[in-house]
Amino acid sequence: MAVPADPAVPAVELVGVTKRFGSVLANDGIDLAVAKGEVHAVVGENGAGKSTLMSVLYGLHRPDAGHVLREGRRLRLRSPADAIACGLGMVHQRFRLFPDLTVAENIVIGAEPVRRGAVDRAAARRAVEELGERYGLRADPRARVGDLPVGVRQRVEILRALYRGAEVLILDEPTAVLTPGEASRLFEVLRTITATGASVLLVTHKLGEVLAAGDRVTVLRQGRVTGRFRTADTSADELVQAMIGRSLSSLEHRRDGGGPASGAYALEVRDLNVRDRDGVARLTGVSFGVRPGEIVGIAGVAGSGQRELIDTVTGLRTPGPGDSGEVLLGGATARRGREPGVAYVPEDRHGRGTAADMSLAENLLMGDQRATGRRTLPRAAVRARARDLVERFSISAASVDAPISALSGGNAQKAVLARELSRHTPVIVVEEPTQGVDVGAQERIHTLLAEARDRGQAVLLQSSELSELRLLADRVLVMFEGRVVAELNGATATEAALGHAMTGATP
Ligand SMILES: Nc1ncnc2c1ncn2[C@@H]1O[C@H](COP(=O)(O)OP(=O)(O)OP(=O)(O)O)[C@@H](O)[C@H]1O
Ligand SMILES: [Mg+2]
Repeated sequence: MAVPADPAVPAVELVGVTKRFGSVLANDGIDLAVAKGEVHAVVGENGAGKSTLMSVLYGLHRPDAGHVLREGRRLRLRSPADAIACGLGMVHQRFRLFPDLTVAENIVIGAEPVRRGAVDRAAARRAVEELGERYGLRADPRARVGDLPVGVRQRVEILRALYRGAEVLILDEPTAVLTPGEASRLFEVLRTITATGASVLLVTHKLGEVLAAGDRVTVLRQGRVTGRFRTADTSADELVQAMIGRSLSSLEHRRDGGGPASGAYALEVRDLNVRDRDGVARLTGVSFGVRPGEIVGIAGVAGSGQRELIDTVTGLRTPGPGDSGEVLLGGATARRGREPGVAYVPEDRHGRGTAADMSLAENLLMGDQRATGRRTLPRAAVRARARDLVERFSISAASVDAPISALSGGNAQKAVLARELSRHTPVIVVEEPTQGVDVGAQERIHTLLAEARDRGQAVLLQSSELSELRLLADRVLVMFEGRVVAELNGATATEAALGHAMTGATP
């Protein structure tokens, strides 16, 4: 007869976990216990060791010391397959789904129900529907994953873990890629999951989410635990203190006294119309301008035309036959292709933003060869300049010669910003500058953007963080279905007003 599990025994417990990468001590004797039925948040600065700890728990890294207990029993995790067999599941930030397979196929892959020696597709679909029903995770089992929005793809990842019997679900920055609406749906789902007695480990940089969706929170700093709190008894300020050892200065990035920027546009877009390969309109009649010393924000639910707009402005998009309109830089028609007068900080810092196998120093200098007119720069000069940027932008890295892929997410982001801002171009286009970035670095990045504005750069800022737009943007353009449907004053617009405009509703 099965003995009911003791609820006081943690679902999973990490005991004295230590993990080094060469000279970097990523985890230093970490203890962390996750109770049954709780959402346990893990927070900390970029590079604090959160992902490393989750990878140890999921069998991706072997710890140098310490071990993992599951319901009091010590595990030997040699691979994720071992972790899955022990009831652990992980949803990676970079999804590992097969875009050409259906939802049901992705969920059951590697563990397919079999009937008379063949995959039982009907049983697979039923299983997906049942799981979806039980956890409120709706996804059409027959849909092709490649056709689904990000929020639904993430649901498929979660369903895949649940299908394999996960009772401890690890989510590493799950909302970084979600819209605010998708994020709140995710948290409802997490509640349904924990109501069944399962547990969730939630790594995030968004302290509002920790306080709203977490039961308890563990704070890491430089590989060690610096705080353990019940979310009911703590505050964002207390968490920040434990994370970075100080409070955040209250942010005030508005221009002091200068008043709104005036004069000619540094960047102007006139009646832009863009169609995709299938002839579907992606941008319709978009016109606006950004003056020197001004930050213009772009808001909108994902897929409202932001991608096409930014690709056009930065010259990354090859105009198609259905395109029309003009992009002007400093009053002159922009030339085709990548425009040297426009700096660009892309959302996908691992793809467009950086060259993964090149060093931090080389990544910091990319594009500079053009400015100096030289194909190659002396190695010593490259490193000296890189060290200067590392210092000025507080990028934390073992060495400027390390590959940029070894940097934590937030530090990679600061590196791209450092490179692009230090080019001092008249126009800078920035996408999601603080996605996946810790609160200390967020503050730093906001200050850097405000400084760029104060130096007279024209900044086009696309962000899904409405608080970020309200903090920085002089004006916010709201996009919906490829059109600019509203223009709001960044300082006075409420999040409710912005959110309302994002739905396409007329004010
Ligand atoms: N595979 C690796 N090889 C070498 N160093 C690594 C590796 N993975 C992580 N590190 C280093 O270990 C430290 C902890 O990194 P980790 O990715 O765990 O941080 P994190 O808290 O998840 O940061 P972020 O918030 O930026 O995602 C960092 O200094 C990082 O550079
Ligand atoms: Mg991480």
